[in-house]
Amino acid sequence: MLVAGLAASAVHAQAPDAADVAEGMRLFLQKGNCQACHGWAGDGRKMDSQMPDGANLRETKLDRGDVIAAVKCGRPGRSMPAFDKFAYSDARCYGMKQADLKSRELSLPDPPATLQPREIELLADFLFAKIVGKGPMNRARCVEYWGSEAEVCGEFPK
Ligand code: HEC
Repeated sequence: MLVAGLAASAVHAQAPDAADVAEGMRLFLQKGNCQACHGWAGDGRKMDSQMPDGANLRETKLDRGDVIAAVKCGRPGRSMPAFDKFAYSDARCYGMKQADLKSRELSLPDPPATLQPREIELLADFLFAKIVGKGPMNRARCVEYWGSEAEVCGEFPK
């Protein structure tokens, strides 16, 4: 029935597929290595002390489009790498190319890997399902996040 089909796609727009969220989580922890600067919980408690302090993504006020732009384009001069391979080659990001960054003395760290647009969508699915606006990490959220009583959850009081 047409009405039911529409309702199902509206629900889908709000709640992404569990498989997509899981794929986004892998991108966050592994390929994108977002956790190096933002922490596994996205709360800014970085995993690598040599890395810049990432923002607390749990408290970000950005909407989905802004998050995707931040990941694609990074934040020139502010230690957030650009994950879009072509970010500064064709002025798609803030209208700037490499030469503009250079002349304005804006540097960006190299991303751990570049990501495809589809991968950045999956990351956004994960971030909005598990991180953004979810409150501070605690024992219950930690167990939910890892899907079991992970060792790292021991740091949170029961
Ligand atoms: C090299 C360290 C580093 C890595 C790796 C990194 N970030 Fe960031 N990120 C930062 C820093 C630093 C900021 C704060 C930039 C600023 O002050 O505007 C930031 C900001 C952001 C913001 C904007 C938050 C806001 O509220 O303005 C988002 C979204 C974000 N990062 C997502 C990601 C994602 C997703 C990944 C992995 C694909 C990632 N970051 C990887 C350092 C990093």
